[in-house]
Amino acid sequence: MGVLEDKGRARLFYRYLSTVYDRINPFIWNEEMRAEALEMLALDADDRVLDVGCGTGFGTEGLLQYTEHVYGLDQSEGQLEKAWAKFGKTDRVDFTFGDAERLPFADDSFDAVWSSGSIEYWPNPVAALREFRRVVKPGGDVLVVGPNYPRSTVFQKLADAIMLFYDEAEADRMFRDAGFERIEHRTMGPTYKPDVAITTLARVPDDD
Ligand SMILES: C[S@@+](CC[C@H](N)C(=O)[O-])C[C@H]1O[C@@H](n2cnc3c(N)ncnc32)[C@H](O)[C@@H]1O
Repeated sequence: MGVLEDKGRARLFYRYLSTVYDRINPFIWNEEMRAEALEMLALDADDRVLDVGCGTGFGTEGLLQYTEHVYGLDQSEGQLEKAWAKFGKTDRVDFTFGDAERLPFADDSFDAVWSSGSIEYWPNPVAALREFRRVVKPGGDVLVVGPNYPRSTVFQKLADAIMLFYDEAEADRMFRDAGFERIEHRTMGPTYKPDVAITTLARVPDDD
């Protein structure tokens, strides 16, 4: 397990990173990538959507282009303070302080869950994906963007030491273990590194 796949360490890491996050983020996760992922999720205007690990609100801002019913959750106060400054605490977006693996929402509360760039910090991603399945209505979609596993063995060792990096086979396994169906993946990235991220879209079974 990587050094940042620990909730306390990830919280500490983001206490400092939150001050510069919005300036660094576009180098690996930009508006073009976000637009491509949003098109995959294809939200309707009346959909209620939860953004897990919403951070300073970059994914949240994209979700608001599709629906006004956006909820955000993050375990870092530093990150949430930046998001509150942009959207208000409960104004355009309803923000909650919380943990991806223990979502403080009732069963079937949302039409969809979105999570960009957060799965790599969760100690138990399958537990979090099961929580996504619980809070999304049957037939609803979940979209997760995470870091693609590097091809070079040197970078693989470095990546494994830091956080979760995964390939399509591993994403398939995690989503299947969590009970999802119709699982599909797309790699994406900025022009200088077009496969840096892996985006997975999966559906909660209709008979859930
Ligand atoms: C790279 S940022 C991504 C922020 C945002 N989703 C975006 O698209 O820019 C990762 C975020 O995940 C949050 N995070 C990490 N572990 C978490 C957990 N267990 N529960 C909730 N949020 C978590 C961090 O605090 C951080 O804000």
